[in-house]
Amino acid sequence: MINPKIEKKLNKQLNDELYSSYFYLAMSAYFENNSFEGFANWMRTQSEEERLHAMKIYEYIQQVGGKVKLTSIKTPKTEWTSPLAVFKDLYKHECEVTKSINEIVDLAVNEKDHATNNFMQWFISEQVEEEATAQRLLNKIKFIGNDRQGLFLLDRELGMRSADN
Ligand code: FEO
Repeated sequence: MINPKIEKKLNKQLNDELYSSYFYLAMSAYFENNSFEGFANWMRTQSEEERLHAMKIYEYIQQVGGKVKLTSIKTPKTEWTSPLAVFKDLYKHECEVTKSINEIVDLAVNEKDHATNNFMQWFISEQVEEEATAQRLLNKIKFIGNDRQGLFLLDRELGMRSADN
């Protein structure tokens, strides 16, 4: 039987991952409305990846005899002033996710819940990747600034992302 404190934290993280999926989908819609199809594709793929993160937690809670508690998902921001503003939010968001993942691991260690600690290690590694990608994209977009050709090329690059990369 899972420790109730950990069950609560995992359910919160499940909700947060669903919110992440929603947030990236809002970013995708913003880019699509502004004719950046490549950026929109990247964000939509990321949104799907976030849903998979949520489902990993969903399945784990069930597997360890806990109860999945789905709650309302907050409305994401839907308007930005520029692609740079989106990528700033994206990076900030991923840093916050890392913080909450670390908190679950801290709790699992304190509560001597080795199974949850082990399960969460996948998310620890994933967040290293997520933050690095967010930072790389933010740096690129800062470098590009308002240069139309640079934005066009980055849009084309991000348009090539598919579900397995
Ligand atoms: Fe599920 Fe982008 O962290």
